[in-house]
Amino acid sequence: MRKLSLLLAAAAVGVVLASSPGRAQPEETPESLPDFPGREETFGYCIGCHSMKVVGRQGMDRPRWDETLTWMTEKHNMPPPDAEMRKVLLDYLAQAFPPAAPAQGGGFVVPFAPQQ
Ligand code: HEC
Repeated sequence: MRKLSLLLAAAAVGVVLASSPGRAQPEETPESLPDFPGREETFGYCIGCHSMKVVGRQGMDRPRWDETLTWMTEKHNMPPPDAEMRKVLLDYLAQAFPPAAPAQGGGFVVPFAPQQ
């Protein structure tokens, strides 16, 4: 029963997000992201709640992206990806937004980024 309510809640969030084009960011497309396998899937998964700029600002290794997905799921009600989807997301995120990636445009590297 609890599981069912969670599913319903997730579906409701989807409906609300899908029906509020005013707040979506129409200019953002998958093509604006680094080109690696899984780009469309990752874009589709994350864009429902926030701009991919929120994601692209971060540079992390795979374990920390993994933690981020868990955080999104537990704290922000992201629909949990199944194992296969999680792998697609992590493969993409770790390649597209690795630790200490130069900031878009500037080439500035955060000097105090945590060492992995
Ligand atoms: C169900 C909603 C939801 C989904 C889906 C979602 N997020 Fe989030 N995310 C949030 C919220 C809420 C915040 C915190 C609000 C904010 O920082 O603007 C957040 C913040 C973040 C941050 C932190 C940014 C920072 O400045 O610290 C990262 C990184 C992030 N999300 C990554 C992702 C990735 C990657 C995906 C797709 C795999 C994703 N999120 C999908 C809700 C979501």
